[in-house]
Amino acid sequence: MAQPQQSEGAEVPPLRVGMVGYAFMGAAHSQGWRTVGRVFDLPRRPVLAAVCGRDADAVRRAADRHGWAAAETDWRVLIERDDVDLVDICTPGDSHAEIALAALAAGKHVLCEKPLANTVEEAQVMTRAAEEAFERGQLAMVGFNYRRVPATALARRMVAEGRLGRLRHVRVTYLQDWLVDPQFPLTWRLRREQAGSGSLGDLGAHIIDLAQYLAGEPLAGVSALTETFVRERPLAEGTVKGLAAVSGTGTGQVTVDDAALFTGRFTSGALASFEATRYATGRKNALRIELNGEHGSLAFDLERLNELSYHDATEPAAHAGFRRILVTEPDHPYLDAWWPPGHGLGYEHTFVHQARDLVHAIAEGRRPEPSFADGLQVQRVLAAVEESAEKNSVYTPIAV
Ligand SMILES: NC(=O)c1ccc[n+]([C@@H]2O[C@H](COP(=O)([O-])OP(=O)(O)OC[C@H]3O[C@@H](n4cnc5c(N)ncnc54)[C@H](O)[C@@H]3O)[C@@H](O)[C@H]2O)c1
Repeated sequence: MAQPQQSEGAEVPPLRVGMVGYAFMGAAHSQGWRTVGRVFDLPRRPVLAAVCGRDADAVRRAADRHGWAAAETDWRVLIERDDVDLVDICTPGDSHAEIALAALAAGKHVLCEKPLANTVEEAQVMTRAAEEAFERGQLAMVGFNYRRVPATALARRMVAEGRLGRLRHVRVTYLQDWLVDPQFPLTWRLRREQAGSGSLGDLGAHIIDLAQYLAGEPLAGVSALTETFVRERPLAEGTVKGLAAVSGTGTGQVTVDDAALFTGRFTSGALASFEATRYATGRKNALRIELNGEHGSLAFDLERLNELSYHDATEPAAHAGFRRILVTEPDHPYLDAWWPPGHGLGYEHTFVHQARDLVHAIAEGRRPEPSFADGLQVQRVLAAVEESAEKNSVYTPIAV
């Protein structure tokens, strides 16, 4: 491993982080911020300055557990703190725009969880604010962390090197099963006013971003089907833990999609298919993507995230075929700072890598990727999918 940042002394300036929300993503981001400076040599030293939640006792406990120096109960107060340089937004989508706009107006850098917003209109305002803030030296990034799996970053590198040649197909599925039980409660993820959409904005946003990132080009249009299989569910009692929750008394309406299927066309003419569902019995977090080009193919499965499959179609047919690249070598993305070859990484490392990339972008004053503009583009695809589904799957161009 690289030498810990701490050994390099006090000349590395701090980057003081204030995080809003401390549950699933809050825990994952905390781990990223805590770990990144101890693994990678960084130009700024992340400091976990303050975390914000709405319940004073619970946020204090979360601060102690995850290593934050201070706890706040109002995100507006967190944003105004002099000891916060960057605001990390880990709340549901209905608060992303308000918090991000206030943080940018207060002169802070912003990291915002996906999807960027709940509507295209919100995402447009956020992107304009981010562009103006960039002129003042502030950066804004969206948390599409699946770009930061070493194997997907390697796939991007191989596509950019031209190893697949002209791209023909991108095939993506993101399958979970935590909604199969009709008695599972109505958490915020099932309410349109909080989540924006269902499987589509949650899982679909990830695979749209990943597909466009790996292909190196945007989608031009989509044709979609969405479905809500269970329309009424028990109300939730208490807090959500990860994806799990407890049912209380009474029921309420599910106002988002349970599953979204769509086909799409990239600007180059390559074809894509997407499937996002929370009803794929037995599939827990199965994000799978395959790209087929004229010179070869790549395939990745998040449930085997240290591996990338590669078929080189320029090899003689007699011994060509998919081979497994174990993505743990020091010259693979992010891996020079981690363990010896074969000692694999996991889900949480994507948040360490996300923090690393953002710290570098801030120190170097360059636009981070994915930017708010990238988040807006994903939002436009989400909106086009919903529009197409409402119109019996009519092909719907993506607005530019
Ligand atoms: N990148 C990923 O892989 C990934 C995975 C899960 C969720 N997400 C995204 O992260 C975001 C949060 O999801 P989650 O799973 O962490 O949700 P969660 O329910 O686990 O946590 C939400 C947190 O936000 C807090 N919160 C809500 N409103 C608040 C407010 N007004 N002020 C202060 N705190 C507030 C809640 O108290 C809670 O701590 C969503 O945008 C979601 O889509 C991303």
